[in-house]
Amino acid sequence: MKIVHTIAELRAHLAAFQRPVFVPTMGNLHDGHLALVRQAKPLGDVLVVSIFVNRLQFLPHEDFDTYPRTLEADCQALQAVGCDVVFAPSERELYPEPQVFKVTPPAGLADILEGHFRPGFFTGVCTVVMKLFACVQPRVALFGQKDYQQLMVLRHMVQQFALPIDVIGAPTLRGADGLALSSRNNYLNPAERQEAVHLSQTLTAMAQALRGGATDIVAIEQQAMAALTARGWQPDYMTVRRRADLQWPAAAELATPATLVVLGAAKLGTTRLIDNLEV
Ligand code: PAF
Repeated sequence: MKIVHTIAELRAHLAAFQRPVFVPTMGNLHDGHLALVRQAKPLGDVLVVSIFVNRLQFLPHEDFDTYPRTLEADCQALQAVGCDVVFAPSERELYPEPQVFKVTPPAGLADILEGHFRPGFFTGVCTVVMKLFACVQPRVALFGQKDYQQLMVLRHMVQQFALPIDVIGAPTLRGADGLALSSRNNYLNPAERQEAVHLSQTLTAMAQALRGGATDIVAIEQQAMAALTARGWQPDYMTVRRRADLQWPAAAELATPATLVVLGAAKLGTTRLIDNLEV
C-alpha cells in the first residue's frame, strides 16, 4: 500500500490505472469505514482512500481541533482490507491558499436538517469532495448511508456537474445493540454509550409506526423528540422524509412507506449523534 501526501505524488501513482475507486474519509477509521473499503475494492483497478479532516465543514464551535487524527492506526487498518493508496494531504497541500471558490449546494437540499443545524456544512463537504475528486479522478466513489443527506447532496452535485463518477451508498454498520458506528461514538462515556442505542431505537419505532399505517407525521415526530428529551437527550430533529429529496412526504405518499426515510440528530451530553433508517 502506498501512502502519499501530495497531489503530484498521487497523480503520478494513479497515471497507470484506468478505473480508480475512491473512499473519502476524515480518518479515525472504524469498522464502518473498513466495510466501505471492502465493498469498494472490487469496483475498480486501484482503490484510493483519502484521509483529510476538512476545516471547511466545521463550524467555529465544533470539534475541528480535537477531531481525532490517527493516521498510523488508520493506515494499518487500511492495509489489512486491501487499500492500494492512502491520500493524506496536509492542510497546506489541499488548501495552499484560502479556498475562495466553493461549491454551494442549493438551499432546498442543503439548508434543511443537518444544513439547518450546521450552516455551511454542505458547502464545506461539497467543496472538499469536488477538490478530492479533481485530485483522484475516480470512476466510482463510495459514501456511507449513515450520512444520508450528505450522500443525497453529493449525488446531486455529481449529476449537476456531469462528473463521470458512479456514486455508491454503503449500508450503515451498527454495533450489536444497534448504535450506528461513528467516529464521534468515541466521545461517549460508558453511561452515554449505553444510552446511545435509544437514537436508533427511536428511529426504529418511527419506522414501525409508518409501516403499520400511521399517517400523523407531526405526532410521530413529536413523540420521538419527546421520548429522547425525556431520557436526557437534546434532539435537533427526529423526522419523516421522502428518500428522494428529504422533503416531508405528501399525505398520499404515506401509503408507500418504502419511499420514506426517518432521520434523527440529537445531542447526548456534549456529543451530537446522527442516524437514519429507510422505512
Ligand atoms: O463523511 C465524511 O467523512 C466527510 O464528510 C467527507 C465526505 C470525507 C468529506 O470531508
